[in-house]
Amino acid sequence: MTRLHDAELAAAFDRAAHGYDTLVAANPGYHAHLRRSARRLGLGPSPEGLRVLDLGCGTGASTAALAAVLPGAEITAVDASAGMLERARAKRWPGRVTFVHASAEDLTGAGAGAGSGNGGQGGTGGPDEGGTGAGIATGTGAGTATGTGTATGTGAGIGTGAGAGVSGPFDAVFAAYLFRNVTDPDAVLARVHGLLAPGGRLAAHEYTLSGRWAHRALWTAVSRGLVLPVATALGDGPLYRHLWRSVVEFDTAAAFTDRVRAAGFDRVRALPLPGWQTGITHTVVARRADRPAGPR
Ligand SMILES: C[S@@+](CC[C@H](N)C(=O)[O-])C[C@H]1O[C@@H](n2cnc3c(N)ncnc32)[C@H](O)[C@@H]1O
Repeated sequence: MTRLHDAELAAAFDRAAHGYDTLVAANPGYHAHLRRSARRLGLGPSPEGLRVLDLGCGTGASTAALAAVLPGAEITAVDASAGMLERARAKRWPGRVTFVHASAEDLTGAGAGAGSGNGGQGGTGGPDEGGTGAGIATGTGAGTATGTGTATGTGAGIGTGAGAGVSGPFDAVFAAYLFRNVTDPDAVLARVHGLLAPGGRLAAHEYTLSGRWAHRALWTAVSRGLVLPVATALGDGPLYRHLWRSVVEFDTAAAFTDRVRAAGFDRVRALPLPGWQTGITHTVVARRADRPAGPR
């Protein structure tokens, strides 16, 4: 089977975590494009206390983009792969960044957390101050833990708790290369909608093909000619075969904007990204509509 789902996908990311940063560093524009998509949230210079969710944060590339673009924001970074999160956690983060081990499917809406996780208990001081550090809260329940803990040392800590979860409302959700990976994108969009404050922003940075033959052919050429041989040599062939096929089989940019609109978002637009990713990768930006979708 080419496509991977849920637990087997998380396990593939666990295995691939060691080489992930090397592979994306070889992808021209990867980090700059993430920062561009983060700016496209349209939040401006973020006021203190702005709450942003980085869904599918991986090894932290998207988290770093958000931290750079939104210097006042509290960032909750969530991922289903413990291995990817471990790589993220090992990096240097300001104290306003928290990592949570959870699946997007397990997140609940604003204030709906039922658990009582103690995520982030081990949050140990960030490198730049002796104050609060970046913690990791683990668990799949719908809890109220935030994962930020009392800092006592250096580096990012791990907090665990059966109910460690994520509570909205968030001012924005950023999802870079996530939706194409989930089994039920509509269900995850509904979760995201529920986690956002009314008027909250979504930016989905995603491989969403234009629908033109040339872009699909370029994607297949890059995947089969470059990415797959390198990834296979690193032992990560199955994950990158999944990458190739998941992009070909996922929504076009236009279809994805329709899907986002149907989930109750308005002001939905697919914005192109430059370079070889033109027609291959887009930022789909949207706003949680103040009122439910449908007849008014
Ligand atoms: C291609 S990586 C992108 C990581 C990061 N956002 C970036 O821009 O580099 C996709 C990430 O999404 C995570 N992921 C996939 N499905 C998920 C799900 N259902 N819930 C949470 N994370 C998920 C994977 O574990 C992986 O770390």
